[in-house]
Amino acid sequence: MKVEELNVDEIIGRVGKILSEEDKKKGILIYSFQKIQEEFGYLPEDVLKTLSQKLSMPLAEIYSVASFYKQFHFSPRGRKVVRVCTGTACHVRGAKDVLNSLESEFGIKEGETTEDLELTLETVGCVGCCGLAPVATVNEEVIGDIGRKKLKSLIKLIKEDQNEQQT
Ligand code: FES
Repeated sequence: MKVEELNVDEIIGRVGKILSEEDKKKGILIYSFQKIQEEFGYLPEDVLKTLSQKLSMPLAEIYSVASFYKQFHFSPRGRKVVRVCTGTACHVRGAKDVLNSLESEFGIKEGETTEDLELTLETVGCVGCCGLAPVATVNEEVIGDIGRKKLKSLIKLIKEDQNEQQT
């Protein structure tokens, strides 16, 4: 059957009947998580409790679904999210040194956020730029070939942005 011949309304109708109420709620959950995270930057517990009441779904189940997806977070995130790639190529070319330097410079460990909510530091698997290893991303921007000199300018860049926010 060609795509043009598909009767979308009929298919949705059939799918709607096949799905249980539970399945429909789970479908709504992901969309709700996305919207909540868009607004708060993470999934606050009190908002998830409200969602749990609205959907008549146990809070534990809501957490279970949300924690399955790496994209959802349960604590506030920094304005800037720095991810150090620890894939094989980056590991071999000094990712650990990059991570250690950032940890000691900003006084946080991997997975943590600074108290002023300026920076969240994470690690990530290969980001597909192995030729530029070692690589880190700052929000959506990829920064590669992080040698000693570039690391210093990366740290300076993060701090400069922090200062701009405070003035
Ligand atoms: S291993 Fe780091 S970009 Fe591929």
